[in-house]
Amino acid sequence: MHKKIRKAVFPVAGMGTRFLPATKASPKEMLPVVDKPLIQYAAEEAVAAGIDVLVFITGRTKRSITDHFDKAYELETEMEQRGKEKVLDLVRGILPAHVSCVYIRQAEALGLGHAVGCARPVVGDDPFAVILADDLVDGQGSGGALKQMVDIYDRFGCSVLGVEEVPPDETHKYGVVTPEDIEPDLWAVKAIVEKPDPRDAPSNMAVVGRYILTPRIFDLLETTSKGAGGEIQLTDAIAALLKEEQVLAHRFKGKRYDCGSKLGYLQATVEYALKHPELRDDFGAYINTLCADRLTGS
Ligand code: UTP
Repeated sequence: MHKKIRKAVFPVAGMGTRFLPATKASPKEMLPVVDKPLIQYAAEEAVAAGIDVLVFITGRTKRSITDHFDKAYELETEMEQRGKEKVLDLVRGILPAHVSCVYIRQAEALGLGHAVGCARPVVGDDPFAVILADDLVDGQGSGGALKQMVDIYDRFGCSVLGVEEVPPDETHKYGVVTPEDIEPDLWAVKAIVEKPDPRDAPSNMAVVGRYILTPRIFDLLETTSKGAGGEIQLTDAIAALLKEEQVLAHRFKGKRYDCGSKLGYLQATVEYALKHPELRDDFGAYINTLCADRLTGS
């Protein structure tokens, strides 16, 4: 039996430059897709995977994330007095009672690897998950991307990276692996490189915002120097890890939206709205009319 994955790390201290000015005073992880911020979708995915400790690596302008997961006494009292039960349930039900939140400050945005390293005092000697909330995954009935990865970890007891095939000319946006077949949707990672130029990329199998890592990564992060973009890269520490331990790549079921980019965020917003019980009919009708008007040029 392997140690259970109980803790998930959410690095939310990035600068979100692609979304400025929206992210000047508010973190990109608080951008809402329809009616929930990205960070809440990520927290729900973690809870569905059996996680009960959420570790947020925060930076400046991130107070709203702490506030979001805190009890909102004034709002709750007000809603109680007005008898607004439905709203009250929404506000109270953001996280189940057995889940706790820990906040760690990353003083300087030195990179994703550095952010994950900041979680060491809380994670300690346990395997753990990392979720990048700006990669929103609609699990489409699969139980969630992280749950699928935890299932793989439970079988193999080693680090697991969430991957998907990306267009070959987009490898420079991702960590890219050299995969070796194990079974459908599962590969052994033979090598990994951060943001390779499409001409040098070992494959088009890219790591997308979901990781399960063994605690050995913390030692390796401490000796990882600045890599691509002058940042301490998680990918470089994983490259060192796979020289010592097995690392797997799993293509999870579900649709990923890159909500760190404006286009991906808009696609997520439209598709989630088209599935939203309160909105889908009216919004669907609106989209149909809009498309018809664009086709006829009116
Ligand atoms: P990104 O590469 O998306 O960077 O970080 P970013 O700063 O958030 O966004 P852009 O590219 O400037 O628009 C990947 C993840 O790592 C976190 C980010 O919050 C994001 O979830 N991160 C990055 C940190 O927590 N700390 C860092 O120093 C860097």
